[in-house]
Amino acid sequence: MSLLGNSDDIYSSVKDYYGKVLASSKDLKTSACTAAAAPHPIIRKAIASVPDAVNDKFYGCGNPIPLGIQGKDVLDLGSGSGRDCYVAAALVGPEGSVTGVDMTDEQLQTARESIGEFEKTLGYAPKLRFVTGYIEELQKAGIEPLTIDVCISNCVINLSPNKKLVLAGVHQALRAGGELYFSDVYADAQLPDSVRKHDVLLGECIGGALYVKDFEQMAQEIGFAPPRVLSIAPIAVNDKELQALVGDTKFYSITYRLFKADEHEKAKQGDFTATYLGTIEGHEDRYELDIDNVFVKGVSKPVSRGTAAILSSSWLSGFFAVAETSNSNSGSAALPSSAETLMNQLRRLEQLNSSASGGCCSSGAKKGCC
Ligand SMILES: C[S@@+](CC[C@H](N)C(=O)[O-])C[C@H]1O[C@@H](n2cnc3c(N)ncnc32)[C@H](O)[C@@H]1O
Repeated sequence: MSLLGNSDDIYSSVKDYYGKVLASSKDLKTSACTAAAAPHPIIRKAIASVPDAVNDKFYGCGNPIPLGIQGKDVLDLGSGSGRDCYVAAALVGPEGSVTGVDMTDEQLQTARESIGEFEKTLGYAPKLRFVTGYIEELQKAGIEPLTIDVCISNCVINLSPNKKLVLAGVHQALRAGGELYFSDVYADAQLPDSVRKHDVLLGECIGGALYVKDFEQMAQEIGFAPPRVLSIAPIAVNDKELQALVGDTKFYSITYRLFKADEHEKAKQGDFTATYLGTIEGHEDRYELDIDNVFVKGVSKPVSRGTAAILSSSWLSGFFAVAETSNSNSGSAALPSSAETLMNQLRRLEQLNSSASGGCCSSGAKKGCC
């Protein structure tokens, strides 16, 4: 039996929108939804090398591609026309691989058609493929367990009617120490059915937005380490009619990092320091693991046990030196990023929200903000 249950209407509406309604990014009335910061110069350069046909149909709303992934196996959930996959393919080089999964034929066709052209630009044949499938059914789409180092996704998971299934499938696909690094839309409260089921709000990536606390709980139930927030940008809902529907609920575009760091649970008692070695191209002087953990090259700094576990056991481990400084069992290094911490981070951003201009829902007349 299909895992997709009774969500056919959502799937066909989303497929129709991205396959037939939109011809290019220019059709998005809310293309200003890129509330995220400008991409790193290395990513910008890679984007410039991507064929126009692919770039023209980019519908993402963030920059969820980490640097330092040379030789890694990358999976993109809801790869669309493939822009992030092409960028990732340039970053992983000839030894790494990139697989995009999408359910919309038209998007997949665009993604597949330009691989030959991109090969000439790169000067080698990238291990880049696009497979047809649902992100809720990764194994059915041919993604085997324990084969992926880094999973990325750009404004797609909000469109899924079964987000827990998506996260569980990613957890299964990731190797130990792998990571889901993704941008999406979140709410600071649970959404009522009137918002969830509103056609325009759903299409605008608001109706499907996850309540941050539910997301954090879901991620940890599945077995991920506590979510790390890399960036948060407020989304303004300016349309009066839509404002009335969402009330006081605030929406954010958040780039999260979810590590499959088994050691996180078994982390030794004691205190730890971590030193960034400065060996990630593009982050030679400093590395931002998340908004609370920024490392300066060569400078040892105390870290929580959870952070020590991530930096010593994930795909990032080669870029850091982690040391245990004592066996005090003092508990001084508590795990970070509890749901409360996240909510506090969001509250801090409420000030920004009031001054935000534009955003995903600066107008409410059209679907498909991201
Ligand atoms: C907003 S677009 C983003 C595309 C791409 N990530 C980008 O940044 O350009 C959403 C994409 O996700 C795909 N999608 C949405 N829900 C999906 C699902 N449940 N399974 C597979 N693909 C899905 C759509 O077909 C569409 O191509």
